[in-house]
Amino acid sequence: METTVARNERKIEVCFSPALFPVYYSSSNCVVVVIDVFRATSAICTAFQHGVEKIIPVASIEEAADYKQKGYIVAAERQGEIVEGFDMGNSPFSYINPELKGKEIVLTTTNGTKAIERAKAADKIVIGSFLNLDSICNYLIEQNKNVVLLCAGWKDRFNLEDTLFAGAVVHSLKNHQVFTGLADSSLAANHLYSRAKGNLEGFLSNSSHRNRLAKLNLEKDIEYCLQENTMDLVPKFKGNALTI
Ligand code: MLT
Repeated sequence: METTVARNERKIEVCFSPALFPVYYSSSNCVVVVIDVFRATSAICTAFQHGVEKIIPVASIEEAADYKQKGYIVAAERQGEIVEGFDMGNSPFSYINPELKGKEIVLTTTNGTKAIERAKAADKIVIGSFLNLDSICNYLIEQNKNVVLLCAGWKDRFNLEDTLFAGAVVHSLKNHQVFTGLADSSLAANHLYSRAKGNLEGFLSNSSHRNRLAKLNLEKDIEYCLQENTMDLVPKFKGNALTI
């Protein structure tokens, strides 16, 4: 059953790894923001901005292959690269394609779709990236719920870029009267974002997935994913799919 929390006593917590999610998610009175800045959640936002109708996230390549056999358009990424035999990968630029307008896409990625899978116990799951930062913050203010910012990280490990986005959300909401409880995780993320804002790319210059993508000649993707507020939308997970 969906529950709410007292209007002025809402907490914001940052969960730094999908493996920790059961610790942070204790009841249905929270909204979970899934974050995978490089690149799954940035790609998902881009897909909707460019007219994709629906995205079905799946955790495994096997599930993705089943959908492919049934004739779906299927995007699959592992280790930053397109998985052989699938239609596309995880670059936001692949979703800026008029042929995908109105289409349903199945998506599996190394960490992003795994984080969505882990969050499925929550009654509200939304997708956050720097591209839709303000829309996410406005959405969270409107909900009578605690907030868990779930960082997809890298294979259950902490990563910097998702933490910076979580910090950007905390930074924007921390002085809002309805959010009274900032967990230590939120204070830490906010602190990092405060140091990094204005030069996110520079701050991330030694971070592992940034360097992994750079080695794959995906510098353009990095730059793209670090833009703030280029779109006004909030992808939401319902049933088995994401829509806006
Ligand atoms: C993921 O889900 O791990 C990422 O989006 C990887 C990537 O950059 O493609």
